Amino acid sequence: MVLDVEFAAASDASAAFYIHLHFKTILMTHPKIAQPDHPIMEVLASRWSPYVFSDRPVPVADLQAIFEAARWAASSYNEQPWRFLVATKTNQTQWEAMLSCLVDANQAWAKTAPVLAIGCTTLHFALNGKPNAMAAHDLGLASGNLSVQATARGLAVHQMAGILPDRIRSQYKLPDGTQAVTALAIGYAAEIDSLSPEARRSETTPRTRRPLTEFVFEGRWGQAAKITGP
Ligand SMILES: Cc1cc2nc3c(=O)[nH]c(=O)nc-3n(C[C@H](O)[C@H](O)[C@H](O)COP(=O)(O)O)c2cc1C
Repeated sequence: MVLDVEFAAASDASAAFYIHLHFKTILMTHPKIAQPDHPIMEVLASRWSPYVFSDRPVPVADLQAIFEAARWAASSYNEQPWRFLVATKTNQTQWEAMLSCLVDANQAWAKTAPVLAIGCTTLHFALNGKPNAMAAHDLGLASGNLSVQATARGLAVHQMAGILPDRIRSQYKLPDGTQAVTALAIGYAAEIDSLSPEARRSETTPRTRRPLTEFVFEGRWGQAAKITGP
């Protein structure tokens, strides 16, 4: 089991990080590891969304841990509006039923994931029945926690907006006041050596992000905050 992940150096094109196992430390490199402009936690830098998963099954303890991490996310009024439906390949019928709830383009790659989940929200506050405008936001926080906890355990998560909400509603009998929002493919990213040339391209293309100057503003919209400067 992966206990800890720690950066070594990020001097060349593919960042390096160490995974500490029980008794040994392995230096790992992967082109998907972020090259941050400012230092961030290794577990954040090494999270990415694979399109190809290994067929290695995910231990139940790891699944428990990642949903536990989701459980402890912050939420507006502590409403905890997230709900997850989950299906693992250990129950092929249930897993195939969940795969069929994704749009075709997502089914095409998510079929390699040993675990699928659907992220749902409750739409009203339990306390007063008022609409919870933060429900999707808070599902996002929970899914973020889940993804980071998964990364810390050597797993990967690929979230999807491309789902079939009506199919999900009828298949899982979603009650009124709930909504399916996302799906999540969960598993171990396939080893680069095992990939076809085409897949190797997508699975090794470095991840990119807009710089802080384009989304941290000061004074007025669009004006880069001073803290983003050198
Ligand atoms: C809410 C959400 C919806 C997404 N929907 C899809 C999707 O339907 N299909 C897909 O292939 N990727 C989807 N993605 C994955 C993003 O494309 C991916 O996170 C983004 O390109 C950044 O890559 P990274 O996660 O590897 O850093 C989604 C991600 C999020 C957070």
